[in-house]
Amino acid sequence: MKGFLFAILACSFLSIASAGSFYQDFDIIWGDGRAKILDNGRLLTLSLDKTSGSGFQSKNEYLFGKIDMQVKLVHGNSAGTVTAYYLSSQGPTHDEIDFEFLGNLSGDPYTLHTNVFTQGKGNREMQFKLWFDPTKDFHTYSILWNPRHVIFMVDGTPIRDFKNLESRGIAFPKNQPMRIYSSLWNADDWATRGGTVKTDWSNAPFLASYRNFNSDACVTSSSSTSCASDAATSKSGWWNQELDSTGQERMKWVQQNYMIYNYCTDSKRFPQGLPPECSLA
Ligand SMILES: *[C@@H]1O[C@H](CO)[C@@H](O)[C@H](O)[C@H]1NC(C)=O
Repeated sequence: MKGFLFAILACSFLSIASAGSFYQDFDIIWGDGRAKILDNGRLLTLSLDKTSGSGFQSKNEYLFGKIDMQVKLVHGNSAGTVTAYYLSSQGPTHDEIDFEFLGNLSGDPYTLHTNVFTQGKGNREMQFKLWFDPTKDFHTYSILWNPRHVIFMVDGTPIRDFKNLESRGIAFPKNQPMRIYSSLWNADDWATRGGTVKTDWSNAPFLASYRNFNSDACVTSSSSTSCASDAATSKSGWWNQELDSTGQERMKWVQQNYMIYNYCTDSKRFPQGLPPECSLA
């Protein structure tokens, strides 16, 4: 009996330990030691100095899912730095779902830049300010990706909903498995106030931290796709999720108060007419 109990305890311990392990879910792919997995796999940090930035990618490839990551961004004078967190498939006609955090001078707001690429084509930028200081604490950045929506969320608040409008001839990401990537790098040629504010290397190394990665997703391998939960069949799961009226109200609040750029209203940029999804959304 004692042995049996111990076995149960050992098992539950293992599953808890693996639930949040960066060792299990990610590989560090560049940065020559600047990216670190710490605290038994519970914390990952990226760093950037004058020589190099750093980055990691998921071991798995995903095809649909609800994917959460908590991130704490570079604090203080982060001008010139960019922290990218995104999903992407491979190749010239790849799909991509992007969060990019553009740093700023101390006290000036970060810009959260988002984009969606389908079959190699992006140009769908929407940018936001945040309603909190993203460098003080960890906040949760989520992507809900199902066959009908790609919804970007910040601490559970939807900020953007890219809808499946294939019936109107607009490509939607649904056939190409994607990996999760993140990197911290120097982009002071464009990132902050259009590149006019340069990275101040006296503040280096710059640090971004990650924790509590959580995915309820479908993982693909060469032969098959398997989903973590029964979400794909349950009516209430993420597979069928879309914004209810509260979610739509929340998103409207963000877009009215915190959106600083929307490609769908940039008619100067698209003199031949705005992209078709802009009038259908
Ligand atoms: C930085 O702060 C300035 C001043 O508030 C703002 O105009 C700009 O959009 C902010 N973000 C970036 C990335 O430059």
